[in-house]
Amino acid sequence: MPTHHFKHVVLGLLMTQGLVHLEIQAQSKQIPIETRSNALVLEYDSTKTLKMRYYGEKLNDAKEYSTIASGYRQLTDYSGLSDAAYTPSGSKNLLEPAISVVHSDGNRSLDLRYEKHEVKNLDANVKQLDITLKDPVYDIYVVLHYKSFLNEDVIEQWATIQNKEKKVVTLEKFASANLTLRSNAYWLRQYHGDWAKEMQVEEAPLTHGIKVLDSKLGTRANLFQPPSFMVSLGKAASEDEGTVLMASLGYSGNFKVDFEVDYLNNLRIIAGINNYASNVKLASNQDFTTPKLIYTLSTKGKGTASRNLHNWARKYQLLDGNGERLTLLNNWEATYFDFNEQKLKGLLQDTKKLGVDLFLLDDGWFGNKYPRNSDHSSLGDWQPNRTKLPNGIATLVEEATKQGVKFGIWVEPEMVSPKSELYEQHPDWVVKQPQREEHYFRNQLVLDLTNPKVQDFVFQILDDLFTKNPALAYIKWDCNAVIYNAHSAFLKDQGAFYVSYVEGLYKVLERIRSKYPKVPMMLCSGGGGRVDYAALRYFTEFWPSDNTDPLERIFMQYEYSYFFPAISTSNHVTDWGKQSLKFRTDVAMMGKLGFDIVVSHLKEQDLLFCQQAVKDYDALKGTIWHGEQYRLADPREGDFAALSYVNSQKTEAVIFNYLVNNRYGIGTTDPIRLKGLDAQKQYRVEEINLYPGTKSSLGQGQTYSGDYLMKVGVNPDLNSNRPSVLLKISAR
Ligand code: DGJ
Repeated sequence: MPTHHFKHVVLGLLMTQGLVHLEIQAQSKQIPIETRSNALVLEYDSTKTLKMRYYGEKLNDAKEYSTIASGYRQLTDYSGLSDAAYTPSGSKNLLEPAISVVHSDGNRSLDLRYEKHEVKNLDANVKQLDITLKDPVYDIYVVLHYKSFLNEDVIEQWATIQNKEKKVVTLEKFASANLTLRSNAYWLRQYHGDWAKEMQVEEAPLTHGIKVLDSKLGTRANLFQPPSFMVSLGKAASEDEGTVLMASLGYSGNFKVDFEVDYLNNLRIIAGINNYASNVKLASNQDFTTPKLIYTLSTKGKGTASRNLHNWARKYQLLDGNGERLTLLNNWEATYFDFNEQKLKGLLQDTKKLGVDLFLLDDGWFGNKYPRNSDHSSLGDWQPNRTKLPNGIATLVEEATKQGVKFGIWVEPEMVSPKSELYEQHPDWVVKQPQREEHYFRNQLVLDLTNPKVQDFVFQILDDLFTKNPALAYIKWDCNAVIYNAHSAFLKDQGAFYVSYVEGLYKVLERIRSKYPKVPMMLCSGGGGRVDYAALRYFTEFWPSDNTDPLERIFMQYEYSYFFPAISTSNHVTDWGKQSLKFRTDVAMMGKLGFDIVVSHLKEQDLLFCQQAVKDYDALKGTIWHGEQYRLADPREGDFAALSYVNSQKTEAVIFNYLVNNRYGIGTTDPIRLKGLDAQKQYRVEEINLYPGTKSSLGQGQTYSGDYLMKVGVNPDLNSNRPSVLLKISAR
């Protein structure tokens, strides 16, 4: 046995017998990151390796964090790096690294040691801890950033990698965060999907080895998998019980999350940009800043974790998260590409008739040499089509203003159709491999946003629309293609392509937002192909899926609701699905309500219902958007779904209840227990959003105490005749 190995074994033996840990403990220093309920404790000892020692409930006495290590009697950590706060590769490391570098001299080893740290109090609620690590041999520094949000129990974590060597250094892996969790079992809740099948869930225990969630699609990066996940410790957490880490990577491109259950039975989570076909070259004195991993830990189940994320998102991330939103009528499914000025003017009247705030003109309004009459042409040629719209967009905006409604428009600015003037004029602006056959996704290609000229062009599309139509009140930003044949005619180093694409996208969005800070914009990507918190800095809402079948939506929206607040979720009433108009409308109300139906085809009663529903929604939207969300019945666990929103004063709540199974005789036999109310208050419970001519089987507004409603509950009387029931609870 080599002597160094022997030393480790002896040390390991002594450690397991408790003989040396006291000495290590005496030398170790803790850096706790405390939030309202939790502490994430980092630690280093005389070796100066920074480790993640603990993430759990915070202790009353911070001094006791130094004792935590002594409670663990795990097998030998041969490298001393298994729980490193940012694992380097090529030196002692034996497990999945967070960072891999090639130094300017070709050497591939990295070691990172604690140098210093600093805590800044950004305000009474937000702190930022910056810890500098350095390689003792090479001039590479990594600064780990932890921004902690006290009341929300949320941490944003990212890294800045600095090359202070004299020449270029290549980063081959460059993660945002490297967490270590300790438990006897880890349950991963993850998502997969495709068009119209977003947020399909799977939950299973992690076994030893590495499980990866990732995307290699470039744009529309979440089509198959989003960067949001949760891990429960011990057993799968329920809504109100169990310890669960809920996390989402704020990045709109290729991502990768490694879940490694190691030989010590710890779970190592390494999350960041995907290094697939990518590296980052850093010139001397250049830095690279990774995107942020956003996470929260709850020891009280998934409900608390969600509310933490929602509160953080509304206050600190989502554009105008505490603001208002516009209800709308969209014409995509009502007309597809088949419309003209006259038809649209009719739809503007319908918008007014329905009572919503805005009309949203979708795809098909542009292109002249190649008119956009199908999805086979015209992307890139953003001039109004003269046949359909002889007087341009301006006349529609004017007409909308006359009708007393607002006007919004659809764009897909990152894309180009092979059949377009843009492609003919600027073939070098298109992402493609010059020697290979083009391959299309929805008949289109992606523009090369790494090129500053393309960034200018994309910015100009939006800027022109706003300049020519100052009253334009809403943008739907679509993104329908993935990247095939990734290659940029602009870049010298193709390894930089995927990362530079996303940087280019953010540069454009940054410019748009500095000129137009507040205009609401919907983040759409052929459905939910791009749903992440970095993009949501620039967008007020996202489009979860083109699948608006309400039954499907209940399941999808339920899963999205773990990570994203209702105010960010755009839901439209459409003709998808077999459910009644009432059912479809109730489901769309669990977020930001819109319609995509032919209003003029509605029967009188249907129209009446929709008009009343918009009024009901207007009265309740404050609670849905800004209230606390409680999931009451999981559609995957039974025959019902129930979800509620409670305002901050606990004076109003809305409860959405749905039957998700139509087997014979099915119905709510038992009451559904409410959550988040004030036990001391008396509440009136009334059924709202009833279809004209129907009466509630619940009678006319009975009163119960909050105590009763939370301990016993209320029965919405769901059954096959009443598959969707909306309850309003008001304090008396
Ligand atoms: C995909 C979007 O998800 C739809 O809502 C619609 O805008 C179409 N694109 C238009 O092409």
